[in-house]
Amino acid sequence: MCVRVEQHCILDVDKKEKKVKITVDGKEIEAYEGEPILAALLASGIKVNRYTVKKHEPRGLFCGIGQCSDCSMVVDGKANVRTCITPVKEGMVIMTQDGLK
Ligand code: FES
Repeated sequence: MCVRVEQHCILDVDKKEKKVKITVDGKEIEAYEGEPILAALLASGIKVNRYTVKKHEPRGLFCGIGQCSDCSMVVDGKANVRTCITPVKEGMVIMTQDGLK
């Protein structure tokens, strides 16, 4: 089941007016401009954001408030972006993070 984050303790996610396209691991998905990247990913059924360095284990949503880094991904070429607190912008290119990059 896919869900969309309707409330967030840090970010304003109430305004879902403009749909935009973002690319995740080469696949284009729809998102609402300004919602957390992680919210858009979850709404599209994407639950793995990164793989750990040592054991290559999958990680995804854990704290949801920017404290744990389990949701880190590569966003527009920059690694270690915490997707739970980073707002969506039109045309973002997002990649699952493998280790530290
Ligand atoms: S889920 Fe913990 S920092 Fe994003």
